[in-house]
Amino acid sequence: MNAIIDSIGYDPETDPKEDLDNGVQATKDLRQYLGGLLEQRHGRPGDDLLTRLANDDGPDGRMTDDEIVSTANLLLIAGHETTVNLITSGMLTLLRHPHVLQRLRAEPDLVVPLVEELLRYEPPVHIIPWRAAYSDIAVADTVIPKGSQIMLMLASGSRDPDRFHEPDRFDPDRRDNQHLGFGSGIHLCFGGPMARLETQIALTELVRRLDEPRLVTDPPPYRPSPVLRGPIHLQVERNG
Ligand code: HEM
Repeated sequence: MNAIIDSIGYDPETDPKEDLDNGVQATKDLRQYLGGLLEQRHGRPGDDLLTRLANDDGPDGRMTDDEIVSTANLLLIAGHETTVNLITSGMLTLLRHPHVLQRLRAEPDLVVPLVEELLRYEPPVHIIPWRAAYSDIAVADTVIPKGSQIMLMLASGSRDPDRFHEPDRFDPDRRDNQHLGFGSGIHLCFGGPMARLETQIALTELVRRLDEPRLVTDPPPYRPSPVLRGPIHLQVERNG
């Protein structure tokens, strides 16, 4: 499996070995940092998530420190970069479709289907590279043999022309928009409802507050990862 992850690389322009070493070191540093935060929270009442994880017995008993650090790590990475990318790609898409931006200003309720369309059209998670077939799986005329490693191309699935009419068109009025932006099945994104809400609020407020926003650079620079897609930053000029 690591071979697959290495071969797609998180940054095609850097040395995969160096990438991996940096990744391993960063993971260790982050675990150490989270472990430090956890230590401060043991036995202390509070209402932040880490305190609750550290002090709650739950139906299956208390979690070990290792489990809590892994959970905090997962929630931070799965929940932060993805949402940041959806907000940034969302603003980029609105600036490229000024008539939709104007509509959103006039019809704030449009934000709900608009965010669904963004999850289809500009999904923050493009690929799930770490799946394996537990049994032979028939897909159309192909059988994926048991034991094969599989990469799920979620972004491509969300633009399947057999499923979506004019898939390459950004259309916030699209009906029956069952995209793969949050995956599907048993691993369906756990934070989807929160990410939707955060993005809906952020885009509504940005559009409300920015007077005649204009992109300075199009396209903006992108993070090199083929898995998690999003601009590094978005430079915008405004009147107000
Ligand atoms: C726009 C933002 C987000 C996007 C696009 C996104 C996307 C995804 C996708 C595609 C998966 C499926 C992964 C797979 O099949 O292996 C997933 C799983 C997951 N996401 Fe998100 N996510 C977002 C925000 C969040 C947030 C805010 C949280 C938590 C606070 C979160 C926590 C998780 C967790 C824990 C899983 C694993 C679920 C499981 O395996 O049972 N995500 N997410």
